[in-house]
Amino acid sequence: MLSTSIVAGIDAGPSPRTCCDGFGYKNLFGAYHPPVLSITDRFFFKTLREGWLRHGIIEIIKMAVVKDAELFRNLEAAGPALISSRFGTLDCEPESEISLLSQKILGGALRSYVAAEYGNLYETHQCRPHAYGHTWSPGFEIEAGLLHGHAVAIGMGFGAFLSQRLGWITEAECQRILALISSFGLSLWHDILLKKETLWSSQVKIFRSAARIWWLRCPRGRLANVAI
Ligand SMILES: NC(=O)c1ccc[n+]([C@@H]2O[C@H](COP(=O)([O-])OP(=O)(O)OC[C@H]3O[C@@H](n4cnc5c(N)ncnc54)[C@H](O)[C@@H]3O)[C@@H](O)[C@H]2O)c1
Repeated sequence: MLSTSIVAGIDAGPSPRTCCDGFGYKNLFGAYHPPVLSITDRFFFKTLREGWLRHGIIEIIKMAVVKDAELFRNLEAAGPALISSRFGTLDCEPESEISLLSQKILGGALRSYVAAEYGNLYETHQCRPHAYGHTWSPGFEIEAGLLHGHAVAIGMGFGAFLSQRLGWITEAECQRILALISSFGLSLWHDILLKKETLWSSQVKIFRSAARIWWLRCPRGRLANVAI
């Protein structure tokens, strides 16, 4: 797998899932097909359009929030310079601070993603920290016409807000997550959140999907070749 975008480099590339959209839903069809080798080279990011680069960063923030506090601090330290310098590849000295931080950030993102994903390669259980932000977004991403990263950002912000309301995280922690997402120009709101039917059907679908994966694996005792 030779990944040329951020999403591919740190998420979809090393991911064991291959998916495509169908009937208006995200990633409706797919198969588990882990890569034999996945190469992430930040010098590809030099030619990525800003918007494509920006939306990929959310998958890094996702891993920072759920898995890696040092990665979170590195993202805070780098800030939007990560975008303008194209991960330290544009008009930067090799030893510049942003170049070194970019390498640390990509390394941290990959390390935490692989640790989360490869302990549960075929999704035999739903304790999947890297799915943070992907609970409701598959149900509204296409309808809202959002880029994947913005839909996930909205899902992450909403998830952080609910977690704070439930007392799982403090208000300061919630604000820190929202501020980091915002600092990279990623969305935290879309009016689609006001559409009750869409949100509720996302909720029902994700529950059904989790239950179905369990049913496919456990009672039959074998792995099924379906990503739902
Ligand atoms: N299988 C999985 O587990 C998984 C995980 C996360 C995301 N995804 C999916 O991945 C998709 C997003 O991926 P993406 O952001 O990589 O989109 P993409 O591959 O469509 O690339 C975005 C655009 O950038 C261009 N591009 C790519 N690399 C470039 C480069 N180095 N220089 C210049 N242009 C370049 C592409 O031609 C395209 O126009 C979403 O549909 C998302 O749902 C899948």
